[in-house]
Amino acid sequence: MVDPATHRQLYGRRAGHKLRTGQAALVEELLPQVAVPETGPLDAMVLFGDDRPLEFEIGFGAGEHLAGQAAMRPDHGFIGCEPFLNGVVGALNHIRDDGLDNVRLHMGNAIEVLDRLPDASLDRLYLLHPDPWPKPRHAKRRMVNDGPLDLIAA
Ligand SMILES: C[S@@+](CC[C@H](N)C(=O)[O-])C[C@H]1O[C@@H](n2cnc3c(N)ncnc32)[C@H](O)[C@@H]1O
Repeated sequence: MVDPATHRQLYGRRAGHKLRTGQAALVEELLPQVAVPETGPLDAMVLFGDDRPLEFEIGFGAGEHLAGQAAMRPDHGFIGCEPFLNGVVGALNHIRDDGLDNVRLHMGNAIEVLDRLPDASLDRLYLLHPDPWPKPRHAKRRMVNDGPLDLIAA
């Protein structure tokens, strides 16, 4: 079946309002420090330098939930994926303001990161209010589909 696990096209907004100077600076300076490496296999050691439990959020919006969970479990590592630039800025604000050192971000498709994690890597995965894509012809865009669910289950 064609779905987001096989059909890697991203749908939805990638950017909204123009970034203010401070927001652009966060993207330029803080994002590279907390970004998931672009290539290679991923695990807790690669991402956090130790063997900690990992939690993953697909489509974190502006990052409120991701940051809240990360603040509650500083000994866990959190991976958040979100292609919407203004949402990533929201998460970066939380990371800076709350002093979080246990969050890594991927500004892009969560499937690309899930694919690079070995099976049985994640303690928890959050997919809160995924885009519903209610029209039948858009069904293949839904994250709650066989391909992504198989990846998540693994
Ligand atoms: C309806 S919003 C929900 C945002 C947030 N989870 C919340 O509950 O407020 C869906 C989010 O998923 C993101 N998204 C869509 N496709 C994605 C993908 N393949 N990987 C990561 N995030 C994705 C969108 O950019 C959007 O921010």
